[in-house]
Amino acid sequence: MFATSPRNLTDRRIRAAVIGTGQIAKGAHLPALRTLGDEIDIVAAFDIDEEAVRAFCADGDIPHPYTDLARMLDEQRPDLVSICTPPVFHREQTVAALRSGAWVWCEKPPCPSLAEFDAIEAAEGTEADGGPFAAIVFQHRFGSGADHVRSLLAEGSLGRPLVAHCQTTWYRDTDYYAVPWRGRWASEGGGPAMGHGIHQMDLLLDLLGPWSEVRAMTGRLVHDVETEDVSTALVRFDGGALATVVNSVLSPDEVSRIRIDCERATVELTHLYGYGNDDWRITPAPGTATAEAARWQDMGENVPSSHLAQLRGLVTDMRAGRRPRSSGADGRKSLELITALYKSAFTDTTVRAGEIGPGDPFHTVLHGGAPGWAPDAATGDAPVPAQAPTATPDPTAEPAAPATEIPA
Ligand SMILES: NC(=O)c1ccc[n+]([C@@H]2O[C@H](COP(=O)([O-])OP(=O)(O)OC[C@H]3O[C@@H](n4cnc5c(N)ncnc54)[C@H](O)[C@@H]3O)[C@@H](O)[C@H]2O)c1
Repeated sequence: MFATSPRNLTDRRIRAAVIGTGQIAKGAHLPALRTLGDEIDIVAAFDIDEEAVRAFCADGDIPHPYTDLARMLDEQRPDLVSICTPPVFHREQTVAALRSGAWVWCEKPPCPSLAEFDAIEAAEGTEADGGPFAAIVFQHRFGSGADHVRSLLAEGSLGRPLVAHCQTTWYRDTDYYAVPWRGRWASEGGGPAMGHGIHQMDLLLDLLGPWSEVRAMTGRLVHDVETEDVSTALVRFDGGALATVVNSVLSPDEVSRIRIDCERATVELTHLYGYGNDDWRITPAPGTATAEAARWQDMGENVPSSHLAQLRGLVTDMRAGRRPRSSGADGRKSLELITALYKSAFTDTTVRAGEIGPGDPFHTVLHGGAPGWAPDAATGDAPVPAQAPTATPDPTAEPAAPATEIPA
């Protein structure tokens, strides 16, 4: 439960704060919050790096820099908090913000495990109370192209989705993985399935609905990492469609791609880090009436996928006191698929939707303690179990010395 009374945000300016003042905060959150400056005041920012937060506030004309999260939440009482820190801090910071009464807009990946996501959901308010809720940044769901295709699929005019491909084949060199926190379960949370492919998988799930089973393989082919650097998966959807999912960081010709063959048309999205209407293509099946095919092509005003597009919807939901998209069960679904992908690959089994709950080793950590994938004892992280994985410590327990206890 959160510690303060729900706030009425119907007709007043929203007080926003930013947690973590690195690349994505500067490049996406600050510009999006500023664009909605007619209804949002950015009142404060917090980072453990004092120099970074002072520079961020000076550049953004933000009045209150902090190096102590609890103090910022207490003194500034923000209504909305953008969380832009590495994923290992997302759960602890999201819960702290929710408990202070703030709504949260947290960067992907939501957090390193389903157990941590459970803790985030448990700290949310209710619609009866008007929130607060925690939405995950999945900006690829929010462009006009995705909206258009989602409604064509929902109304059934493209026919049943039958087979899909979901591809995040990117390239990262050895310098990229020379940064110590990258490629490690404890600090990055997962490999490209988690850190890179999550956007396209999230969009695929947003378009096709619930999945029922997954079979996957992972490889560590190029990089000196604990996690995988490539994965492939076969996914069956509740509606009957079958999909292949490929995530890699070793593909010189980089692309992000979704293709869905439906009974009456093939839908394709081809881009890299974001799309506009022109990146979508809808190819009608032979015999489709010209007028109908023309309607499918008309995506309306071009709203590119962006943080801003998601933020607009979030602010509307805050004012209405209703659960925003990409929060709760809707924000959890790509993390659940990724967890199942890892479990399937590391245990050589088919994993069914909903089977990973408390007591399952993959519920608390994505490597599940699996031999060959769990970190080696020599790295100082979790030991490799000699036998089949057993339950791992609960990462949702409060840390003994939160990183937020830095003197201001
Ligand atoms: N949505 C997208 O397309 C997208 C793109 C890039 C990154 N991201 C996500 O954004 C998050 C941040 O990535 P980034 O590239 O901005 O990283 P970054 O390293 O550039 O910035 C992280 C910031 O967090 C600060 N920080 C670290 N630990 C902290 C703590 N405990 N408390 C407060 N501040 C702390 C660092 O000092 C740094 O300023 C990650 O989850 C990443 O996956 C999302």
